[in-house]
Amino acid sequence: MASTQQDARGVPVSFCKAESLANFETALLQFQSYFGDPTVTLEKTLEHDPEFVLGHVFYASVLLMMTERQYIPMIREHIEAAESLAAKANDREKRLTLAARQWMEGHWDLASLTWDNVLADFPRDAMTLQLGHLTDFYRGDCFNLRDRIGRAMSRWDKSVPGYSYILGMQAFGFEECNQYDKSEATANAALDIEPRDGWSVHALAHTLEMLGRYEEGKLMYTSREQDWAPDNGFAFHNWWHLALYHIEHEDFDGALELYDKQILPEDSDVSLQLCDASALLWRLYLQGVDVSQRWDRLASLWAAKTPVENGYYAFNDMHAVISLVGAGRFDAANEVLKAVRSAANNNIGVSAMMAGDVGIAICDAMIAFGQQRYDDAIDKLSPIRTLAHRFGGSHAQRDILTQTLTEAAIRSGNLGLSHSLTSERLVHKPLSPLSLRFANKQVI
Ligand SMILES: [Fe+2]
Repeated sequence: MASTQQDARGVPVSFCKAESLANFETALLQFQSYFGDPTVTLEKTLEHDPEFVLGHVFYASVLLMMTERQYIPMIREHIEAAESLAAKANDREKRLTLAARQWMEGHWDLASLTWDNVLADFPRDAMTLQLGHLTDFYRGDCFNLRDRIGRAMSRWDKSVPGYSYILGMQAFGFEECNQYDKSEATANAALDIEPRDGWSVHALAHTLEMLGRYEEGKLMYTSREQDWAPDNGFAFHNWWHLALYHIEHEDFDGALELYDKQILPEDSDVSLQLCDASALLWRLYLQGVDVSQRWDRLASLWAAKTPVENGYYAFNDMHAVISLVGAGRFDAANEVLKAVRSAANNNIGVSAMMAGDVGIAICDAMIAFGQQRYDDAIDKLSPIRTLAHRFGGSHAQRDILTQTLTEAAIRSGNLGLSHSLTSERLVHKPLSPLSLRFANKQVI
């Protein structure tokens, strides 16, 4: 007999213990808010209720969102557990299991479509909305970052639990589609409902960054710090955005203080966190700032991971490369590049596309820049800079490529290119002190 159980948003759930369903809600809120660890909650739940299909699928899917190969054995275990329970699962859960398998096997694009089909039938499936949203981010699919949420939005309002998190995702989607007024209004609407929503704070930070409203951004972060920062698993990334505002205003010490105290205060093996740390140091390096021994420590953290992670996700690979280059470990950086080449040739799915379309050229360019072969860096970066969304990330994150290209043009004396890139930057960010610094360097 089909189960009549539903989650808090009215989405049907197949047979499970009542306690498991309550725990699912806890894990979902942890996933949405980044307060607490959903995998810990789900692991305990599955110990008591090993036939909780949705629990297995959720566990596997949360781990997929880490974008790390090291978790694949654990992910596989939970997907296989869910598949073995197919006779008890409802149709949605079977499709969610399929999506997790598609993602695990490298077909992030197919998983994205499967989730979209689920959402067409269950627009209040908050877990799937967020999995889709994060995957849109990892694939650099800005229109779906906005429109996947839009397709479900007519079925959401303030009365549905977790509405603010849906608004927060939509706000980020608007920002990545350059709709800044809508993004700001939507993020503020979300924060009026749930001030502790770190994703909405983040959407607002992106918008203020793109509009060059850096002082406002700093104030937004500092005035709300008690909401988004303490004990929040996403705080390192929000701190990273605050550090970008410091770099704009040439407060490099302020940026480094955030690096030391908030962005990478302790050793970590989380790629998402190491990417932010690497990107921050590289931006400072481009500005000629001495970051001291920080590169060495960061490169060692990456080097401990790269034998497993190399070639899994080109966006992460690029950040490993810049860290190794920063530490002067060119052999290790070239090993990563080799793995990216191999991913382009051997792998199936999005990994091969990302590596082949942009990953190889970007890693190659960053190594060339570190070896002061600026013309080579320009040759590699110029053709793919505007296609780099194919390996995911945000506009703010991918700006590292434009900054590197601009700096390479300045250092190599390529005045035509450096003028044109600075001109482009000033159109979008006329008030940006960083834009003006690039412009001033060309006069010298
Ligand atoms: Fe961000």
